[in-house]
Formats: sequence, structure tokens, C-alpha cells
Amino acid sequence: MLATGSWLDAIGYAQGVRGSARALIQQPRVRADVDRRVLGAFLEHLGRAVYTGIYQPGSPLADSSGFRSDVVREVKEVGVPIVRYPGGNFVSGYNWLDGVGPKQQRPTVLERAWNSIETNQFGTNEFIDWCRMVGTEPLLGMNFGTGSAEMAVAYVEYCNYERGTKWSDLRRSHGFEKPHNVRYWCLGNEMDGPWQIGQMQAREYGRKARDAARQMRVIDGTVQLIACGSSGTNMPQYLIWDREVLEECYDQVDGISLHAYYGNTPALTRNSTARYLAMNLDMDRQIREIAAVCDYVQGLRRSSKRLWLSFDEWNVWYRARSGDAVDGRRQVAPKLLEEVYNLEDALLVGGFVNTLLRNADRVRIGCIAQLVNVIAPLVTNDTGVLRQSTWFPYAWALRYARGRVLDLRVESDTYPITAAGLQADFARNDQVPFVDVVATLDAQAGQACVLMLNRDLDGERELALEWRDITPTRVLACETLTGPDLKAFNTFEEPRRVAPQRLEPPAAGARMTFKLPARSYTVAQLATTT
Ligand code: AHR
Repeated sequence: MLATGSWLDAIGYAQGVRGSARALIQQPRVRADVDRRVLGAFLEHLGRAVYTGIYQPGSPLADSSGFRSDVVREVKEVGVPIVRYPGGNFVSGYNWLDGVGPKQQRPTVLERAWNSIETNQFGTNEFIDWCRMVGTEPLLGMNFGTGSAEMAVAYVEYCNYERGTKWSDLRRSHGFEKPHNVRYWCLGNEMDGPWQIGQMQAREYGRKARDAARQMRVIDGTVQLIACGSSGTNMPQYLIWDREVLEECYDQVDGISLHAYYGNTPALTRNSTARYLAMNLDMDRQIREIAAVCDYVQGLRRSSKRLWLSFDEWNVWYRARSGDAVDGRRQVAPKLLEEVYNLEDALLVGGFVNTLLRNADRVRIGCIAQLVNVIAPLVTNDTGVLRQSTWFPYAWALRYARGRVLDLRVESDTYPITAAGLQADFARNDQVPFVDVVATLDAQAGQACVLMLNRDLDGERELALEWRDITPTRVLACETLTGPDLKAFNTFEEPRRVAPQRLEPPAAGARMTFKLPARSYTVAQLATTT
């Protein structure tokens, strides 16, 4: 079935092509500037994310600060724009004071979110140093579980106040004379979740956030504050939580968080890859719904301020999600949440990247959860770092998506989704486009990027791009991620079972027809007229 509303007649596009999808690309139709923060990542004190992930003093792969140089190289090379830290569930029991000051005086504590031993040898100042080294921006989370508003506010003072006060001088005594100037802050984590240390009711949390936020702005008027939204669409209070929280603290915050994890499971997809690959459309829907709640409360408050969204945890996570995979058994850096990603996961991650980019007008921050070892596209061992399949779509977007996201008019053949018992039921008996496409244009550099997901599991699909006002003059790069085995994954022994391959591109020009392989995610970087 072809989606309705054809513009093809209007542009006189040649009929008869086995073209199941077409996209019209016009420069004046811009959706948003690309804020690269939408392609950020998340790093939690959880399992091997910090310890042995980015920090492993004594390792031959570490520098004099103990930072893993191989991981620094990977992160720096693609330019991860922002990294959320230190949690996650971890943050709701974390005393940031334990992680600053002389290392030999820092306490070892029993960490209760993941039942692990936390040595505190890596803390806020090490994280800031690491961020500067890899060229990323910190997004710090605050403890709203066991932590008081007073200590959350003190954290802002410790990080951002110049000098001459209790907490700023403590930072200076720790060797950091200049303030860290952290701009983005999360006011807690998933405070609606029964699993969360210090779980709260929406209004109770909203009032605490309001009170803390007010005080933080006295210390630093430039901070950008993110309230905790619902921790997932499956929460019984989904949207109600968000509305009640915002009714309490709308005027004091700048954004609200969204979280979502997806999986190809009997309950969610009936193990149907066709349904699974449509899950980025669930993400589109969640964004629409949370934005609607924000705008509703904006109306109630008669406010001129429009909140932005922080999708600061998203990924595939369903295999390493119970039992030993989530219980640290009181070990230091236990192996937790070490999900092994295959080709179909990587294709869906490509879909998530498309969704985040096309919603860049509303989503300012996005964080793949997480960055290293824990549900992550990068995995370390004692000999090096492995790129999992999911690394490639994420890295492509970071490398190539620049400038502005274009507002495409896309038509695609569709397939029906009939699986029942889905997490979000928008797609029950609904039609899903085979081809999902986004494009960006950096007019100054004269470069465009097109990211294309082909959800067709059985056949190649043609995507005809029709350019208006801008004309591609050269194909600079064209790569695809595909393969015969959707369940194939990379290992240290076989690191390129799922890896980018060069795809023969069409000639550059006003009309370009890409032949997208079955079950593939493809990137094209194009030089354009400026
Ligand atoms: O990313 C893993 C966990 O998932 C985080 O700690 C928590 O915020 C979410 O439930």
C-alpha cells in the first residue's frame, strides 16, 4: 500500500519505477537546527561503565589519569556532544561528596541501586576532566531520592560558583580553581519508579523540584534544569505524572525527561522483527504525547515559556534485564546489563536516530543509554574496545548530520502490523512505512546527509529523492549496514560481522534513486550547491 497524499503527480515523477518510497527535499522547508546534543550519551556508575569502561588505572591502555585512551579515542573521534552522569538509578542513593577530594580519603560504600561496591575513586571532578579530554559537555544528575534539596543546591554551588563560599572553596581546595560551569542538570532520575530509591508521588516530587530549582537559579542564573518525566510509556501514571509534576514546577524548569527501552520479545513484538523495526515510531509517539502535556500545562499557566524535551535514556534493552544481569552481588565493577547487540538492534537504533533528528524542533537533548559496557555500543576488555553493531548508525549521525534538519515530504509503501499485546498499541492493525528517511543540510559547508532505514526484511527498496532549491553535486560517502543474518553480532574475535559496507550510490543530481538493500540502514553524505 502506498501512503496517501501524492505529490508525485505535481512534480511529474516517472511512474513505473519499482520505487516504493520517495522523498521530496526542499531547502526552505526546515524543521529545526541540528542541536548535536540530541545525539548525546549516558554513563552511569553501574557495572563496568565507569570502572574498566572509561577508567582503569594501571591498565596499559590507560593514560596517567587512569582514563582508557582507546575509549577516549572512539568518543572523541565521533564527537559525542553531551554525556549524562552519574545515573540513572545510581544517582538516587549517591552522595556526591563521597566522590570528591583526595582519593585515599574517599569512602568505599555499598551501592544500593545495583547492589555493588562503589569505591568512589572516580567522581565529579574526574568526570569533568574526562569530558574536557573527549570534548563533550557534562549533563549532571542530582540525587532526589535520599538526597535533600539542600545538597542538590550545594552541588551546583560546588561546580559552578566562582569562589568565596563554603562549597566553591571546597572545590578550589580540591584543585579546581575555575568553576566547571555545568549548564545542564537533571533534577533526579525516574522518581515515579517503584524501583527508584526514594520514589515519590508526582506532586511531592514537583514541589521538591520547584524549591530546589529556585535556589539553584540564585546560585547560577544560566543553569538549564530538567524535571523527571514518566520513566516509560508503560507506567500506570504515564502522562498523569508529567502533568502533575509540571503543574507544580513548570515555571522553574526548562525541560522534562523521557526514557524508553525497547526489545524484540514475545510480550512486546511476539518476536516479530517487522514489528520490532517499527518501534522508533513508538518513540515518535511518546515525544508527541509528552510535548502535548507540556503545552497543556503551558496553557494552564498562561506561560510564554515552551519546555523542550530531554530524551536522556533510550536504547534496546531486553536480554540482560533480570537476575544476575542486574545484581552486582557486592562486587566492584561487576558485569551488569552487558547486552550483546545484533544487526536488527542496530537497524532499530538507526530508526531511533532518525526519530530524534526529525523531532529536533522539540527534543533538545537525547542520550543513548549507555555509552560503554552497560547496554552500550562500545565494549571494553583488557586488550581493547569493540564496536557493537549499534555503534555504526549512532556514529554516522554524529559524523554527518549537521546544520539543519529538513522537513521532508515522504511517501512510502507500507506493511501492516498485526501483532497484539504491544507496549504502545498505535501500530495495532496500523500501516508502517517500509522506508524511514531523514535529511540534514549544512548550507554553509555545502553538505547534506541522508539517513535511510529499509524495514523490508525480504527485498531491496528504491528510494527516489527529489531535490528542490539545492542540488547534490557529488556523493562524498555512501555506506550501509545490512546482512543475511539479523541475529549476527560482533565479538572481539570477529569484530566485523556487522559492519558498514560501501553501497553503490546513484549519480549526484536533482533526482537520485538509492537502492536500499533488504533490512538495512544507509547513510549518504553529499556535496551540494550552496
Ligand atoms: O540505564 C539503566 C537504568 O535504566 C537506569 O539506571 C535507570 O534510570 C533506568 O531504569
